Amino acid sequence: MALSGKRILLIISGGIAAYKSLDLIRRLRERGASVRPIMTKGAQEFVTSLAVGALAADHVFTDLFSRQDEQDVGHIRLARDCDLVLVAPATADLMAKMANGLADDLATTVLLATDRPVLAAPAMNPRMWAHPATKRNIETLRRDGIRFIGPAAGEMAESRETGTGRMAEPLEIVAAAEALLDDGPKPLAGKKAIVTSGPTHEPIDPVRYIANRSSGRQGHAIAAALARLGADVTLVSGPVTIPDPVGVRMLHVERAEEMRDAVLAALPADVAVMVAAVADWRVASAADQKLKKHPGESIPTLALTENPDILKTVGHHTTRPKLVIGFAAETQDVEANARLKLERKGADLIVANDVSPSTGIMGGTRNSVKLIRRDGIEQWPDLSKDEVAERLAALIAEQLMQR
Ligand SMILES: Cc1cc2nc3c(=O)[nH]c(=O)nc-3n(C[C@H](O)[C@H](O)[C@H](O)COP(=O)(O)O)c2cc1C
Repeated sequence: MALSGKRILLIISGGIAAYKSLDLIRRLRERGASVRPIMTKGAQEFVTSLAVGALAADHVFTDLFSRQDEQDVGHIRLARDCDLVLVAPATADLMAKMANGLADDLATTVLLATDRPVLAAPAMNPRMWAHPATKRNIETLRRDGIRFIGPAAGEMAESRETGTGRMAEPLEIVAAAEALLDDGPKPLAGKKAIVTSGPTHEPIDPVRYIANRSSGRQGHAIAAALARLGADVTLVSGPVTIPDPVGVRMLHVERAEEMRDAVLAALPADVAVMVAAVADWRVASAADQKLKKHPGESIPTLALTENPDILKTVGHHTTRPKLVIGFAAETQDVEANARLKLERKGADLIVANDVSPSTGIMGGTRNSVKLIRRDGIEQWPDLSKDEVAERLAALIAEQLMQR
């Protein structure tokens, strides 16, 4: 409901992902928001102002020096008469201009003149995204208070290339806008939360690794739900292809040891929710060079060694959070295994789910969980991972108030 009645100024810049902005307009409007579009010159090469205007049911602003537009609305009013400025897609070019305070067209002038929150959804080729110049600009913009959603990893629309640079999906952008505009109760204001999410990648050699099917959807949704309730959230994530949630401090890691270090560095906290599917074992000594297959040679054997147990470390730490929650992904004896985990790891609550392939939970969008506490078990119905996150965040707020 956060978007109902809200006025979104949508700036579309010249990237191939501009086609997704048409769907974005629909998704924003069906949630009750009004959308006033601005298109850069570049954007008009990708989608027509006719399509954008028809979907937005509003005039499309394109020209800083349009006498008519300046007389009717004016660029300063355009910049202020809204609740949120949304830039989607945000090109490398537009963000470079924003980072340097340029104002040489309507979009950049409005971005410099606005006093409203700005949410940007970057979209570009992975090499453009990884370029030090883009990284510098993003850092500057973050310091200036600009919020970001995405980009995600995956295949690029215009080439067969894959990597990080895809614009977040329209519904992910909508969720980020909702989170920013949400003026609901903030029972977790002033509370610090650490959440882990996704799988870990344990190297075998420089190109191969041991991993699992975790998508990060559940952990990311929990981090976002806690942030919506006002918590100061640090999200430590293994490699995933979904975008970073809005409003959380992100720490990207690869290996279990890196994840443990990041979690311990983020302590103290009021609550820790350990959702990541951390590999139990890693290769004892990963090869420096790619392992080669030579005819006639024997097949290599991988000697494994135990990874740090992050949940147990946090559960028994001298600065243990007031509330420690672990996730148990099991394929058999879900309840019994989760009970054991509760005891051994020093957790207050274990959220257990059956990740047998037939359930479709691991990597999927729905979840069916059991909450295992010392004083009992609660089975939740089949829910979306977002709904599980909402319920869990509410429960955390309730528990922290009692402690
Ligand atoms: C086919 C094509 C696709 C492009 N896709 C992107 C893109 O996804 N992201 C990006 O930053 N630039 C992209 N560019 C380059 C921008 O269009 C170019 O930098 C332009 O100056 C951006 O203008 P604007 O930021 O004012 O809209 C693309 C260019 C072409 C020709």
